[in-house]
Amino acid sequence: MAVQTKIAGLGHYVPENIIKNQDLTQFMDTSDEWIQERTGIKERRYGAKHNETTTTMGAQAATMAIEKAGISKEDIDFIIFATLSPDYYFPGCGVLLQRELGITKTEIGALDIRNQCSGFIYGLSIADQFIKTGMYKNILLVGAEMHSMGLDFTTEGRGVTVIFGDGAGAAVLQPTEESGKGILTTHLHSDGTHAEELAFINPGSHGGYHLKDKDFGYPPENEPGGIFVTQKMVDDGQLFPNMNGQVVFKKAVVKFPEVIKEALEKTSLSSEDISLLVPHQANLRISAFVQRSLGLRDDQVFNNIQKYGNTTAASIPIALSEAFQEGRVKDGDLICLAAFGSGFTWGSALIRW
Ligand code: COA
Repeated sequence: MAVQTKIAGLGHYVPENIIKNQDLTQFMDTSDEWIQERTGIKERRYGAKHNETTTTMGAQAATMAIEKAGISKEDIDFIIFATLSPDYYFPGCGVLLQRELGITKTEIGALDIRNQCSGFIYGLSIADQFIKTGMYKNILLVGAEMHSMGLDFTTEGRGVTVIFGDGAGAAVLQPTEESGKGILTTHLHSDGTHAEELAFINPGSHGGYHLKDKDFGYPPENEPGGIFVTQKMVDDGQLFPNMNGQVVFKKAVVKFPEVIKEALEKTSLSSEDISLLVPHQANLRISAFVQRSLGLRDDQVFNNIQKYGNTTAASIPIALSEAFQEGRVKDGDLICLAAFGSGFTWGSALIRW
């Protein structure tokens, strides 16, 4: 009997602190109207600076997913953690999550993936391969972000800052032999030619030397080693993410429908068969474009960006967990997940619940 991968439990966590669009106007030249009109976002959550991190939020979501799956944390045999805002540069959040959850056994692997907005779909595809080959039985997949610690709250950073929020989502993946159920297909893509269009470039191993057009205040090239963070970087506000919003938008509205259609074609299904599309919550206008180009009804698409902003790797698992709680994901439903983001990387998954 062929083994497929099912989502046995879902969890999510968003911090209590609600930041409304109006709250951001204290720091930067923006408005509730501009943000809502361009992105659909009304508010987002920010983690508590003194006691929350990407890992602690991930642990909250993971605890819920483990409970919903009806297993114990000791049953987890592999962790996959997707984030672009890790607690440390290294080690990654996978091992930190293991510690935070109090999983003391060492017969467990922990993998960190850095695929930004498509991190959850990449993680799902990796988990699917490990389950199908019989290597693991209970994989914990987490997407979590603490963006608020790394955003530019001046007017210069407004194009990026207003979009992003904090939160975490998680899923427990298990094998199933129930015919036709579970993950039917996953599709992953990348195109590195636009890497810098949506990127957090400093600090990095480029040491500034490979970015000749930029002056980061580095020492001369003949000195050994480099300086990871320079005072000039701090002074010039170069320690923040940058985004070419229009390039991202134009690519996203093409790649989202394309990769969804690829999954439908692979499984000989059509967009009418989709019970619920849970797209990465990048921007409400992008979701509306995708909905229109696939001819989907409103009830076939789940959006919660209005409440949480774009939570990058956390956005799909938060949305999926909320959709499940609201009764919009039922036994036998065809669930479609899709994402596009920095890299660029993009992907899709079709799941028969
Ligand atoms: N508040 C007010 N004005 C803002 C602003 C803000 N938060 N951010 C940018 N602006 C200004 C710009 O400075 C610009 O002003 P100018 O015309 O005087 O130069 C003007 O608004 C238009 O900026 P532009 O970047 O052309 O706006 P846009 O219509 O492309 O919308 C985004 C910007 C970011 C909302 C849009 O490009 C987008 O959604 N892109 C996709 C982003 C995304 O999904 N990223 C995540 C990928 S996973």
